[in-house]
Amino acid sequence: MVKTILLGLGARGKLYHEYLKSHRRQFEVVGVADSKLGVDWKELCGCALAAGKSTRSPDLAIIALPDRLHFKAGMASLRAGMNVLMEKPIACTFKECQQLVAAAKRYGKALIPGFVLRYTKQYQKVKAILDSGVIGKAQSIHHLNAVGYEKTAAAFCRGPFAKVSESGPIMLTKCSHDFDLIAWWTAGRKPKSIVSFGARGVFEKANKPETCEGCVYKEKDCQCVYLQGADVMEHQSTLIQYEDGLVVNFELETINARRGRCTRFFGEKGTMLVDEGEVRVRVFGKKEKVYRFQKETDHHGGGDVGLMKFCASLSADRNARFPAEDNILLAHYLAFKAEESRVKGKICRL
Ligand SMILES: NC(=O)c1ccc[n+]([C@@H]2O[C@H](COP(=O)([O-])OP(=O)(O)OC[C@H]3O[C@@H](n4cnc5c(N)ncnc54)[C@H](O)[C@@H]3O)[C@@H](O)[C@H]2O)c1
Repeated sequence: MVKTILLGLGARGKLYHEYLKSHRRQFEVVGVADSKLGVDWKELCGCALAAGKSTRSPDLAIIALPDRLHFKAGMASLRAGMNVLMEKPIACTFKECQQLVAAAKRYGKALIPGFVLRYTKQYQKVKAILDSGVIGKAQSIHHLNAVGYEKTAAAFCRGPFAKVSESGPIMLTKCSHDFDLIAWWTAGRKPKSIVSFGARGVFEKANKPETCEGCVYKEKDCQCVYLQGADVMEHQSTLIQYEDGLVVNFELETINARRGRCTRFFGEKGTMLVDEGEVRVRVFGKKEKVYRFQKETDHHGGGDVGLMKFCASLSADRNARFPAEDNILLAHYLAFKAEESRVKGKICRL
């Protein structure tokens, strides 16, 4: 039984809460903090610290607070002796990410980022195929994250992730998931440089139509997408070059009709195409193999469930670490460096 505290009961926190409540044999919720409930996260962490190593002390803190609170809440939870499931990004600067990972090592605790995609059946299959060597070593990888215009309007025009000064660059807030996948797929291969270009120009005041009639972004409360002062990139393309010749080409598109991720792996012996719910493997000279995955009803194609199962497994070994802790840093590092390259207009050495 994993004694769990939940910090933040917003959109993400509620999903975790539902999961915890419906898995009472694995998790016991011993505290929930949300400012809307009048409970600050610091109060719960203070109680956990005071409980020390007693039987009352919680094992796991789930942190689903706004990004800017992750670092402090994460440090406090680790200090209080808990494993930490931290929503992504784990922190807002790379230095803080490093400090968190170092603290997890120092306290001998797991720091599990909410990189849910790697827990989905589809991406687990992709990783297994890559590791099996059936398509040989990937020479290049094309990866697209197409956000979909409705989601973009809700999150990156009107929503909490519209302004860099308030939430951070989209490379971090949205694409840390993609950089996590890239770091996971290319484990053991060393990236050496990164370059990134991006732009915006659609959701701008000057483009506001004269009438809202017929506008696909029209909403009841009339928060016009063109007038929100959003400044995160609307599209951004990043190239990562590896020491062994691999090149990863990652493209973010926020204005498009079809929402989803799509990846092509070009290996020495074959290719693999990964699209929503489908993995197609074509080994040269052989028939194509197609693996299909049912669309799972829960969030993130089953990734949330996989993530929580992993957290439940920590009860057996309270000192277990996230198995790919180095990727936590690499995923964030790539996101920060992609943004640095775009802002400075130069290739960054990694
Ligand atoms: N893994 C994913 O795919 C994914 C998807 C969406 C969001 N996220 C991340 O999850 C986190 C939460 O996002 P969300 O969409 O649930 O946001 P949200 O705003 O809906 O929820 C945040 C909650 O934290 C509470 N809060 C704020 N300050 C607090 C404090 N001092 N003490 C206690 N509670 C406080 C707020 O009242 C709110 O209910 C963010 O880091 C976000 O980036 C991850």
